Amino acid sequence: MKKRVAILISGGGSNMVALVKSMTGDHPARPVLVLANDPTAGGLKKAQDMGIKTAAIDHRPFGNDRHAFEAKLTAALTDAQPDVICLAGFMRVLTSEFVDHWNRRILNIHPSLLPKYKGLHTHSRAIQAGDSHAGCSVHMVTAKLDDGPILGQAKLAIRPDDTPDTLAQRILPYEHKLYPQVLRRFVVDDQTPVILP
Ligand code: GAR
Repeated sequence: MKKRVAILISGGGSNMVALVKSMTGDHPARPVLVLANDPTAGGLKKAQDMGIKTAAIDHRPFGNDRHAFEAKLTAALTDAQPDVICLAGFMRVLTSEFVDHWNRRILNIHPSLLPKYKGLHTHSRAIQAGDSHAGCSVHMVTAKLDDGPILGQAKLAIRPDDTPDTLAQRILPYEHKLYPQVLRRFVVDDQTPVILP
């Protein structure tokens, strides 16, 4: 029986595409749903073009009521019956109730070498701090933002002429390699960290 993977996105969905493309052949999992909190997220069309079921739940009408928004998310996810939920550029903070409901089944990719630079603007913070390296991390989601056990990291040297944009562009291909490798392990209950390159 293949494991069922739901992917949550907010934007272009390049990590989602990398995850979907990895789940073919003898891969032990299959994508069952791509869900966005923004109906205009570019990744929705990409998922449809790959034949994946999609859904959009706009968070904006819910205002500050995170629980009401998440109730809709949980309803859509419950229909899809995921074994694993991959956050892939999903830019909403989740409540502890949501995280507890999907306990130990949610993964996230974050564009920094966690535990450094939780939250936003990771690349400019790494450059401003004068760090020698930057990178990305995949971790299990817990109630604390960008916390939780690290399941994989990819690291690259920051160049003297890097800007936040060039660094983001150079890290993204590493994200596309790292996340599928972590997922492939995770769905067979292997949480040995993946270290790239
Ligand atoms: C990725 O760089 C991902 O690491 C980041 O958003 C981008 C989404 O790109 N995620 C976060 O910042 C989460 N805090 P994508 O839509 O092309 O996958």
